[in-house]
Amino acid sequence: MSIKDKKYAKRIEATFSKYPDKRSAVMPLLYIAQEEYGWVSPEGIQEVAELCEIDPTQVKSIAGFYTMYSEQPKGKYWLQVCTDLACALNKADDFYEELKQELGVDDGGTTEDGLFTVEHVMCLAACDKAPMLQCNFHFHEKLNKEKMRELLAQWRADAAKEA
Ligand code: FES
Repeated sequence: MSIKDKKYAKRIEATFSKYPDKRSAVMPLLYIAQEEYGWVSPEGIQEVAELCEIDPTQVKSIAGFYTMYSEQPKGKYWLQVCTDLACALNKADDFYEELKQELGVDDGGTTEDGLFTVEHVMCLAACDKAPMLQCNFHFHEKLNKEKMRELLAQWRADAAKEA
């Protein structure tokens, strides 16, 4: 699969329509590449460069600058738990430990089935809703162990449907 395939054609066309030139669409196209490959892979960088008609090194430099792009392979679900001060005061560290235990991975690790990558991050601007996690850039707030298990079950079911 490639982001140049039909699956993404409408999104890419809609993205280009928002910008005065193709090169300005690099960042949203990098999100599409990350969604397709699970990370900003060399193939994704090449494809974005071709679509935007710029050099791949320019695309790579942008991908490397922003932390929202991952230059390492990740699981299908990229779970980021804020453990910064305000969340830590609401037991975010305990929640993160429970999540790692539940999935059997260490910080930054990916489950053997390739579904989940977990990492702790600094403030995600949901300080009053801890413990919280971000899954593929969607927030889930005021969590506890039970809610976390429900979310994991839902994501596993979603992945099974797509398989
Ligand atoms: S400190 Fe966790 S979201 Fe701000």
